[in-house]
Amino acid sequence: MFKVLFVTSEAHPLIKTGGLGDVSGSLPATLQSLGCDVRLLLPAYRTVLDRLTSVSPVAQLNLPQLVAPARLLEGRFPGTGVTTWLVDYPPAYDRSGGPYLDPLGQPWGDNAGRFALLARAAAAIALGQAGVSWQPDIVHANDWQTGLTPVFMKDTYPRPATVFTIHNLAYQGLFDQAELGHLGLPWSLWTPDSLEFYGRLSFIKGGLVYSDMLSTVSPTYAREIQTPDLGFGLDGLLRHRADRLVGILNGIDDKEWDPQHDSWIVRNYDAAHISAKRDNKRALQHEHGLDPDSQAPLVGMVSRLVRQKGVDLAISAVSYLLHARAQIVFLGNGERSYEDALRRLAARHPGRVAARIGYDEAAAHRIESAADMFLMPSRFEPCGLNQLYSLRYGTVPIVRRVGGLADTVIDASEPNLRAGVATGIVFDGDDANALIAALGRAMSLYRNPSRWRSLVHCGMRQDFSWRASAQHYIDLYRSARILHDHTIGKNQNPGASP
Ligand code: ADP
Ligand code: GLC
Repeated sequence: MFKVLFVTSEAHPLIKTGGLGDVSGSLPATLQSLGCDVRLLLPAYRTVLDRLTSVSPVAQLNLPQLVAPARLLEGRFPGTGVTTWLVDYPPAYDRSGGPYLDPLGQPWGDNAGRFALLARAAAAIALGQAGVSWQPDIVHANDWQTGLTPVFMKDTYPRPATVFTIHNLAYQGLFDQAELGHLGLPWSLWTPDSLEFYGRLSFIKGGLVYSDMLSTVSPTYAREIQTPDLGFGLDGLLRHRADRLVGILNGIDDKEWDPQHDSWIVRNYDAAHISAKRDNKRALQHEHGLDPDSQAPLVGMVSRLVRQKGVDLAISAVSYLLHARAQIVFLGNGERSYEDALRRLAARHPGRVAARIGYDEAAAHRIESAADMFLMPSRFEPCGLNQLYSLRYGTVPIVRRVGGLADTVIDASEPNLRAGVATGIVFDGDDANALIAALGRAMSLYRNPSRWRSLVHCGMRQDFSWRASAQHYIDLYRSARILHDHTIGKNQNPGASP
């Protein structure tokens, strides 16, 4: 079985800003349970060192462009025991603030150097240059922060095979041209078929151009990113590499997100005891200052507050929800204008609209457990995890038909309801009216208890645990190895027939 170096910039519960953290916190352990030998590599941010107290140095990394050596620290991932390596370089990672943004919400000015360092450390380990005896067969890098990893490995043979997973193509790690020199990268990489992207240095292109295999987090998103609409300028490159690109649906950590054992929620329940959700609803109404109205359909939304997530559409739909005598609770942080708009809405409609601005893991669990419906009107969604949590918690997801949302929620159309396969409301169209029409459908189903119950139960029966998806990653690793060996064969013996 494969030895896998899993390189990531976040992993829950050590550090998380979104779904990448959830995936990196749970996929490696499942791969391990399937027989892979996995090491997780991430930066030793201050928060991570605070949470992973028992670590010890295993190597000194003498990497280019650093004024002092970095250290590789080893610990065990909380809950799973996966061996975790941290790149410890205090000038880059020991600071208060987020992994990507400073305390004022601006990208750290030295992000290019900080994440080139992560990639360099990964490459050093992969190529046996880090002074540790373990070497992977596969380097699995994730998102732009790790995009340079295959770049630093590309000219060395033999080397492990490389896999790059796109969690969100909208975030590309674009920097000024001057960074190329600062990072000590050769000018030969400054071409449109390498790292240049319209006059900027693109980290994500490193992953997309130089990895043996590419994946993204749902089959539909794998197709969408090959179109100009959702390709963010990289659709041509992705079409060119289409034979190397697969879509593998994210799984969820079904221990962390389990209504039967969730310790954050007021009352645990399963499909047979769904009425217990009422207690969670009452508690949530109390927690957020909503009227204690058990009849009002309660709609939840937990999200990064950015345009991708259709927050503006949700805001435009609030007056309809009030008209339908529903309540709505928002939890999120992100763009200032959305944060302000949500605060204003809550102030204008006390008892009916609640907005918690901030990041609160426990509150996210409580909303999933208490709400009747969950809103995800995303403009694009590579996979999305909250609709999967919602299904598990018997909270009917209302989603736009894009990316992973289209792949995981089955619309409550008349035929699907009759066949007993519907799990949520899926709508087309990208304006507020389309969302309002979807909410209208949700409200009338809610008023029909037997239909609603069958929708909820069907959702709760779905299995989005990692087991199936992790097996697809193992297949992907196998393909990467075969393609890599084939490429090496060709390079070493150019005249050989296939
Ligand atoms: P994305 O990664 O694009 O943000 P996902 O649906 O894949 O979207 O994952 C989002 C993850 O982040 C979920 O676990 C969700 O509960 C969590 N999350 C987002 N915003 C918040 C918040 N303000 N407080 C707590 N959890 C949040
Ligand atoms: C990204 C995407 C989200 C996906 C997550 C984990 O942040 O926006 O759709 O679920 O990564 O893969």
